[in-house]
Amino acid sequence: MPDRSFPLISLADYEAAADGLLDAVAHGYFSGGAADEITMRDNVAAWGRIALRPRMLVGVGERDPGVTLLGRRRPHPVIIAPMAYQKLAHPDGELAMAAAAVATGTTMCLSTLATTGIPDLARGAPDASRWFQLYVFRDRGVSRELVAQAVEHSFEALVVTADVPVRGFRERDLRSGSELSPVRALPVSAKGDVTMTPADFSALIDPELTWDDIGQLVADSPLPVLVKGLLTPDDARLAAEHGARGVIVSNHGGRQLDTVLSGADALAAVAESVGDRLDVLVDGGIRRGTDVIKALALGARAVLVGRPLIWGLAVGGAEGARRVLEILLEELDRGLALAGAPRAQGLDPSFVCPAPWASAPG
Ligand SMILES: Cc1cc2nc3c(=O)[nH]c(=O)nc-3n(C[C@H](O)[C@H](O)[C@H](O)COP(=O)(O)O)c2cc1C
Repeated sequence: MPDRSFPLISLADYEAAADGLLDAVAHGYFSGGAADEITMRDNVAAWGRIALRPRMLVGVGERDPGVTLLGRRRPHPVIIAPMAYQKLAHPDGELAMAAAAVATGTTMCLSTLATTGIPDLARGAPDASRWFQLYVFRDRGVSRELVAQAVEHSFEALVVTADVPVRGFRERDLRSGSELSPVRALPVSAKGDVTMTPADFSALIDPELTWDDIGQLVADSPLPVLVKGLLTPDDARLAAEHGARGVIVSNHGGRQLDTVLSGADALAAVAESVGDRLDVLVDGGIRRGTDVIKALALGARAVLVGRPLIWGLAVGGAEGARRVLEILLEELDRGLALAGAPRAQGLDPSFVCPAPWASAPG
């Protein structure tokens, strides 16, 4: 990794370092959100409005951050969120991300709009635990082909993104021109890689997708299906009724509908309503080990982390992304010890409460 004048010891350090490394268009694409970016900022702030209630003298010499997810034991609850166009952050793109995943025992979710195809990722990182994120296109033949490829190449789950019926209004991208810059991305036709603008790609997504389609996908897919991008208990219940194995409470990193609830604020109600029937995951604004602890305490089985991994990739390729994961996992381990919760799965709502500082008058 490049020499730096300051050590990179937190995810925020990576964010600051990447700012100077990426060109303005790419940086704007990765860092930006929808409209006034109120939700994007609040995703981070919301975890800070939750206070921890640690327990003492419980014996924390041996700690286990492991969780059971989709019926499988995982070494820890952190997952790499699906993010498009990773070669814009580093030439090694998704393959570097997968190497970081392998090095840290992390599951990586590959985006439909990846710059590395499903077979290439599987060949380049055969040991990576991998999920595939599916955008359902108007042309259902393409979606079927992508699912078939994911099955053939041993992906473990399908993550169907529900919160992009149309693209969010991303003003940074409109101003920078990134919305209309062609990118070469994963095959969205059986014919191979294609070059399209992000705006054109989004226009392929079917805005008519409904719960019936989710039910059909569940019936057709040999892989467990998670629905990503829900914020309400009602939708989570529908996901359960239509056979999903999990839901990801998410607002797409604040990139879709601005002024919706943060994942942190939406999580508890969803977990209370379906947590006994489904695996509930959450993303948005996870930047510290303590954020992971709060998410688990509120009922999440696991969390997805987005932008910080892009910053790691931009700073140091696979090694940078690996370091970002290691920092987060080290913080998680220390946090579990200090919170008096040696087993991550032993966390429950008694470990959190609304932070008094968040409601203090100005
Ligand atoms: C640059 C970028 C690209 C993304 N691309 C996708 C995508 O292709 N599919 C998807 O379901 N979510 C996508 N997301 C949303 C992430 O999966 C995740 O929900 C979000 O980034 C989590 O918030 P965080 O970045 O604050 O950790 C993207 C997010 C970013 C920042």
